[in-house]
Amino acid sequence: MAGTREPRTETHGQSIAFRVNGRAVVVSSSPLQRLSRVLREELGLTGTKVGCDAGDCGACTVLLDGDPVCACLVAAGQVEGCEVTTVEGLADTNVGGRLQRAFLTHGAAQCGACTPGMLLAATALLERNAAPQENDVMDAIGGVLCRCTGYRKIIAAIVDAAVKNAGVEDTGSAASTAISPEAGAAVGQRLVRLDGKQKVDGSEIFGADETPASALAVRAIRSPYHRARFHFGDLAAFVRDHPGIEAVFTAKDVPGKNCYGVISKFADQPVFAEDEARHRGEAVAAVVGDAATVEALEVTDFPVSWEELPPLKDIEAALATGARLIHESRPDNVLVRGRVSRGDVDEALDAADVVVTAEYETGFIEHAYIEPEAGFARRVGDRIEIQACTQSPYMDRSDIAAILGIAPERVRIIPTAVGGGFGSKLDLSVQPFLAVAAWHLGKPVRMVYSRTESIVSTTKRHPARMRLRGGCSKNGKLAALDFSADFNTGAYSSWGPTVSARVPVHASGPYYVPHYRALTRAVHTNLVPAGAFRGFGVPQAAIAQEQLYDELADRVRMDRLEFRILNALDDHTPTVTGQVLGEGVGIRACLEALRPKWKAARRDAAEFNSNAAGALRRGVGVAGMWYGCGNTSLPNPSTVRIGLKRDGRIALHQGAVDIGQGSNTIVTQICADALGAPIERFDLISGDTSITPDCGKTSASRQTLVTGKASQMAGEKLRCAILKLAGACDCATVLFNDGGVTVRDGDKSHALALRDLPLDEHGYVITSEATFDPPTSPLDENGQGVPYAVFGFGAHMAEIEVDKELGTVRVLKVTAAHDVGRAINPTLIEGQIEGGVAQGLGMALMEEFFPGKGENLHDYLIPSAGDIPPVESILIEDPSPIGPFGAKGIGEQAVIPTAPAILNALHDAIGIRVRKIPATPDRVRAAILAARKEKEKEKVDARG
Ligand code: FES
Ligand code: FES
Repeated sequence: MAGTREPRTETHGQSIAFRVNGRAVVVSSSPLQRLSRVLREELGLTGTKVGCDAGDCGACTVLLDGDPVCACLVAAGQVEGCEVTTVEGLADTNVGGRLQRAFLTHGAAQCGACTPGMLLAATALLERNAAPQENDVMDAIGGVLCRCTGYRKIIAAIVDAAVKNAGVEDTGSAASTAISPEAGAAVGQRLVRLDGKQKVDGSEIFGADETPASALAVRAIRSPYHRARFHFGDLAAFVRDHPGIEAVFTAKDVPGKNCYGVISKFADQPVFAEDEARHRGEAVAAVVGDAATVEALEVTDFPVSWEELPPLKDIEAALATGARLIHESRPDNVLVRGRVSRGDVDEALDAADVVVTAEYETGFIEHAYIEPEAGFARRVGDRIEIQACTQSPYMDRSDIAAILGIAPERVRIIPTAVGGGFGSKLDLSVQPFLAVAAWHLGKPVRMVYSRTESIVSTTKRHPARMRLRGGCSKNGKLAALDFSADFNTGAYSSWGPTVSARVPVHASGPYYVPHYRALTRAVHTNLVPAGAFRGFGVPQAAIAQEQLYDELADRVRMDRLEFRILNALDDHTPTVTGQVLGEGVGIRACLEALRPKWKAARRDAAEFNSNAAGALRRGVGVAGMWYGCGNTSLPNPSTVRIGLKRDGRIALHQGAVDIGQGSNTIVTQICADALGAPIERFDLISGDTSITPDCGKTSASRQTLVTGKASQMAGEKLRCAILKLAGACDCATVLFNDGGVTVRDGDKSHALALRDLPLDEHGYVITSEATFDPPTSPLDENGQGVPYAVFGFGAHMAEIEVDKELGTVRVLKVTAAHDVGRAINPTLIEGQIEGGVAQGLGMALMEEFFPGKGENLHDYLIPSAGDIPPVESILIEDPSPIGPFGAKGIGEQAVIPTAPAILNALHDAIGIRVRKIPATPDRVRAAILAARKEKEKEKVDARG
């Protein structure tokens, strides 16, 4: 640590008077300060979110004299004498209150980070247009980005609120929007999410929304180069010469191991780089001081000199013979290899009637959640507490303990609400810097990533380079698939091993492929680490395999949907790892559910095209999907604890972090029915490592299956314990009421006076705890075994319109059939599907991140409301014998088949395949021109 100093207190600014939510306020602020900052930091109105500070995301939308504005672009001086409305003021207004209720009933808030901005934009619309059409709504919210919902439920909620606004009956208070199912009947209900109210009223606490008043600010100094050697100057003098700066920390100040990683065997990422930065955005030091000073610091003032070194930027360069090693211990720059092999692929391909080969490439994709990483830490005696946004509190605890060199029990992780994660918030971000600073200084510290910092330093979806060769018989039966892929895993391992292991298991798609070989490599480069992003590489593989299957179907002149139905896995056919699932294989049902819609859509597209005179052509595409829930052949248990309290309420300790997908609600629904108690009886205790057992990470579509199953088991155990206490039989009914429990056993009724019973070590009258770990087995050297206990299945159909002159693609509709085993909460499942469709659409057509370029939400485009078509969800329930009430996961499943369905539709429309994804207009146009040229050449050749 380079020097310490007492914090400087400095106030400057002028008085600015305005009204907020009908209340007169006066703040002392620089007139140039952002209004968003004044609202959040001066007035404590943290419902206004900051996603970019640049006018790109719309999360900070407020009303200024009734008009929607981005509060991050409005200077405080501009609001003198004005009326500002924030989300906190909406409940008191007719329109705002209706919108909040409609958002709840429609499931329009998932993570909730965009919700305040959406609500304000919608309020402004309804105040000036009481009966807007869908297009008006899309225009009104077009400037507010949502990464979770796919916008359709938001649009529906706003239209619905408008109908009610126009005089049709209202749903009443926010509380009255919740369905209150009978005890034992919660599963299957469209229950309003239990954490929904705080998302619509602005009181939800995200990473940047809470901090001790005296917290110092932490700012990382990061490499501006993809690869660079660096040397520090006089850090002590820097601290001395900068009033307001308290300390600078570097690798030397890490008390334990300067190394962490989500998979301990492959951990390789330093908190602070030592001597050489391996990627642009890697931290080399952290500056700590009062917020104003730290924020105003010119990075160029920091005493570090950089020596830029030649980086390895792509897979080819990293694999080239003699390429420099990014990690000495990893030969050929290969982090890890994956393999699944079954049968004799070469022989089967030789014997196949038809063989098709193909290559596809995909790029980095940014998660672009609306909430940048943020949190605070404080040292409490010999313990450290970190409150931050995270998807994996217990994994964070282990890594922070190792970084500080202390026992895990001395680390407390308190997850905040997470404003979108999609896999990236599984990895540490702000936490190590906060931990090191708070540990040394003994003072609370806070860190909030800027959007650029979030983009340059956090993980991305792996770019993939895929080659495949597949064959089938002339009647369309798949014979063999030979698949290989290299994934650019960037400078550090993150989830590279998981991607390499998961893709070979899934690259067949949900079909019976008797002869199969899939080989993968995760390859290091000097780029930002790639990690987990909804699907762990499977969405990339599906882009390749599903397009190849279309080509095979075409070659044998078979309908592309029927080709898939013919080859679909069923309960008794072995998968490519030799696993026979026995029950719950719903892929055929999903594909068959699409059949009537497929026929109608194909007919409509053909009719449109036969009459088309201009540049527009329509196409229809389909793709199938399967996805194993949970870790690949590795233990991933969840433990749930529930306690019966003396007042008759039930404490549910479930540590599954709800990142918007709805686990708080789903897990409670499952537990409630297992116990036979009404939902209203439950008090939810989430995620805090000091008070909640480990429910693992929120990833791999595992929480409904694994934590849900643990909560079902814990609920059943508690019911048994209550019956035992009452001396009643298994068939007795348990009634929960205020202050007690009544057990009805035939004509006998037994009231348990809970207040008179002793409390156990957890402080409950009865505690029940259960652990579930899905049964899997290790894969052998050929990848044979049982990688997952449960798979989800699905198929998407995309209808699109292409402009052949511009190369633009408009998606007109997506129909999504998913086998979810049991739809615990159909509204939340539809929300996952619609959000997955939106991310898949972005992946297919617009999203690609280039490290070093466009590190903001202005240049990195994600779909906005106007890009998203109607989505029809078809829920198939082919129960899993293992999942709670038969349920399977849906989180990643929803994203996988969208991009290949769109890309197949593109080929259907105009006969081209874009080999480098996304199929942006320039690439589509280039492919059209190349195809034209090829045709002309063929004609010339034919002439002679
Ligand atoms: S924070 Fe203001 S537009 Fe993103
Ligand atoms: S709900 Fe819109 S960003 Fe998460």
